[in-house]
Amino acid sequence: MLKKKILVTGGAGFIGSHLVNLLNSKGFDIIVYDDFSNGSGKKNLPKNIKIVRGSILNYNKMKLLFSKVNTVFNLAVLPLVMSFDNPDLVVKINDYGTYLVSKACAENKTKLIHVSSSEAYGTARYATMNEEHPLLPTTVYAASKASSEAYVRAFEKSNNLECVIVRPFNSYGEFMREDGYGAAIPKFYHRISKNRSPIIFGTGNQTRDLTHVSDTVNGIFLSFINPKAIGGTFNIAQGKEITIKKLAQIMIKEFSKFSNKKIDLPIQFKKERSGDVKRHLGDISHSRKILGYEPKIDLNEGIRRYIQWKSLTK
Ligand SMILES: NC(=O)c1ccc[n+]([C@@H]2O[C@H](COP(=O)([O-])OP(=O)(O)OC[C@H]3O[C@@H](n4cnc5c(N)ncnc54)[C@H](O)[C@@H]3O)[C@@H](O)[C@H]2O)c1
Repeated sequence: MLKKKILVTGGAGFIGSHLVNLLNSKGFDIIVYDDFSNGSGKKNLPKNIKIVRGSILNYNKMKLLFSKVNTVFNLAVLPLVMSFDNPDLVVKINDYGTYLVSKACAENKTKLIHVSSSEAYGTARYATMNEEHPLLPTTVYAASKASSEAYVRAFEKSNNLECVIVRPFNSYGEFMREDGYGAAIPKFYHRISKNRSPIIFGTGNQTRDLTHVSDTVNGIFLSFINPKAIGGTFNIAQGKEITIKKLAQIMIKEFSKFSNKKIDLPIQFKKERSGDVKRHLGDISHSRKILGYEPKIDLNEGIRRYIQWKSLTK
């Protein structure tokens, strides 16, 4: 039997490289399509896959490539932090790029798994937040993710695009870089490991539903293999919220255990960042029911794995 051919845009990024490793372990034939403008380059990718350097703004290149695969996972993105300095470019890549990805998929009748973001919801109006929670973005990045979904849906309605939308909540874990806006874990690690106080922007009472990246990519994978997922939108979260203050405390405790040293660092607080989400807590009952999704790595375990990985990659 021929192996199923998959293309992953943004496959060299944090979540993309985990997804590619998972798909590779399941025996899929993979093409990574990435312009390498960000991410970790090729170093976290398996050796036996095909890598094509290219932008999701290059429609003709995508149209040709997408004709050779059964499914496209769209993870190419410019990050939240860039939406403060260069919002025009973030809108161009995240929105116009998704429009072109959707169009190239529709033209080729290729299935699209579009990776959106919980950022699109903005701060929780109610919790837990199900997929019907209104999309009320508070940053240009979040707006770009919300409207990227609208383009996917437009092609579904007007061109019968076969698609699934997944909305991961903040993901963390191995391969994570410090340049991400919400990258509290790498930033805390950086300071705690140098015996410096972790810095929190705002009161520290803002919450996130932190999801280990292995659970995130498992959720994305389930949305791809389950035919009942087609046409759906799915939250991929841990289904638990934690304050950023508590997260810093857990990281101090876990680093202290790991290094076998007593660490007593007061948290440093700085001015709140504009547009920062105040509360996130995902409802995963729909994903549980339709996809059979179940998060497996709790926060303490995920933090331990991250610290272990960081200590080995210095
Ligand atoms: N990291 C999280 O916590 C999180 C949470 C929710 C949703 N998401 C979503 O998951 C997806 C992946 O995020 P990530 O954290 O892995 O991001 P990332 O920045 O680590 O990776 C993005 C990748 O896209 C590539 N890229 C950027 N512009 C491109 C272009 N024009 N053409 C082709 N490739 C391009 C980059 O080089 C990079 O390899 C995004 O859709 C993001 O919105 C991420």
